[in-house]
Amino acid sequence: MKQRVLLASNRGPVSYHFGTDGTLRGQRGGGGLISGVTSGLAGMTAESEVTWVCAPFSDADRAAARRQDGGDTRDVAQPAGLSGPAGVRVRMLDIAPDTFDRAYNNVANSVLWFVHHLLFDTPNQPQFGPEFRRHWQSYQAYNEAFATAMAAEARADEARVPVRALIQDYHLSLAPRLLRDQLGRQQRTTGDLRIAHFSHTPWAPPDYYRMLPEQAGRAVLAGILGADHAGFHAARWADAFLDCCEAILGAQVIRSQARGAAQAGWVLYDGHATEVAVHPLGIDAAALRARAGAGDVRDHITALSQAARGRKLIVRVDRTELSKNIVRGLAAYRELLAAHPEWHGQVVHLAFAYPSRSAVPEYRAYTELVERTARQVAAEFRTPDWEPVLLEVRDDYARSLAACTLADVLLVNPIRDGMNLVAQEGPVLSQDGCALVLSREAGAAATLGPDALLVNPYDVSETAAALHQGLAMPDDERRRRSAALAATAEASPPARWLGDQLAALDR
Ligand code: G6P
Repeated sequence: MKQRVLLASNRGPVSYHFGTDGTLRGQRGGGGLISGVTSGLAGMTAESEVTWVCAPFSDADRAAARRQDGGDTRDVAQPAGLSGPAGVRVRMLDIAPDTFDRAYNNVANSVLWFVHHLLFDTPNQPQFGPEFRRHWQSYQAYNEAFATAMAAEARADEARVPVRALIQDYHLSLAPRLLRDQLGRQQRTTGDLRIAHFSHTPWAPPDYYRMLPEQAGRAVLAGILGADHAGFHAARWADAFLDCCEAILGAQVIRSQARGAAQAGWVLYDGHATEVAVHPLGIDAAALRARAGAGDVRDHITALSQAARGRKLIVRVDRTELSKNIVRGLAAYRELLAAHPEWHGQVVHLAFAYPSRSAVPEYRAYTELVERTARQVAAEFRTPDWEPVLLEVRDDYARSLAACTLADVLLVNPIRDGMNLVAQEGPVLSQDGCALVLSREAGAAATLGPDALLVNPYDVSETAAALHQGLAMPDDERRRRSAALAATAEASPPARWLGDQLAALDR
């Protein structure tokens, strides 16, 4: 008997648009969460029937949702690979635009993301007034919509096959409890339903988390504790979650004594036990290398090599999120050039900063600051035959892979990051080994730390010194470190990440 897996995430693996003939066309969705989960699912559809529940980002998504709900899928074209062998059914929800906007932009991205990444300019922000309370109601309604859809999917199985719900990220922190409550009310025994929640972000320490209005802060924790299993990328984030459960909810927390083990502990709250565990998400190296072998990536490798003209390359690839710390990265590059004139004309900084969440005003302002800072650094140092910084803001996945392939130094310096995939992809793609300058505040530092050049992301001078160290690193040391980084990244492929969570639910 196949088990049913219900995956839930805000952004789904497919998005829709209207073709010129008015029909709905699907295309693959992007982002680290999507690629990790999709690749993790690839190996498990033989023993599981997978449904992926996600939110609509556009009118075309909503139209697809309504047709699906009406059982009319005639002209809802699924992109190749989403139906067929991978066997993943996508269920797009019909959530009203206002509700979605407030839940996604005003609560998830402007409050919860800021809390977990410690991003607030606290003398001025946040201000939780009546407007926040209204936004919070939408966040609740949005989470209800997911729980209702998942409950309906779970109930659809009259044969009582085991149901495993895997709920992703801060957008859906209330959904685990809502799902459990809904099924409990409808008297489906929840014995054959097991729920996991996974946080792809860091988790805030209690003193910062306390900034949230009490009711919201408690609801987020209690929501996740509706799950049987709560996962994090790094022990730091799992420990911070346990700290918040204890300090803010007054829950009983039992910490695992075996450090280094996947399990961080248990939380007992409201008559229910939740296992809290660490599952670092690495990469599917074979798939990544195969993608990097494609013609479009090879073309970009040729073009970038020509642009570099034999100079060393410092590469960064990020979405322009406030947590990515791109401006301090540019300041560190500036300091490198100021302190080490020997690099003038010898190095180029390729900074790929792709658009993200432009509905949030702070993100728009930050994007402008990144562009201004890059212009200033370029103007200060450029010579007639040397362009020291190449900032690219137009998203181009193939070009990003090409840049990682060529990088001598990869700069990944987030203020905080749940994990960070670029830090793992870079060494796997690297042609001749890259030195990784990595923020100690990225979840990936827990696994990659020994072979990276770790920096305090706020310390621009330390980052500049690490860039210099990376550029000057002897070839054999750089290759050795890069190979070790790649081996670490490959050791936790997405299939294992997902499989470990499912196995934990079955224990
Ligand atoms: C990053 C984070 C994920 C998050 C995603 C959402 O990839 O690591 O935790 O789910 O952003 O991005 P979006 O573009 O959908 O706001």
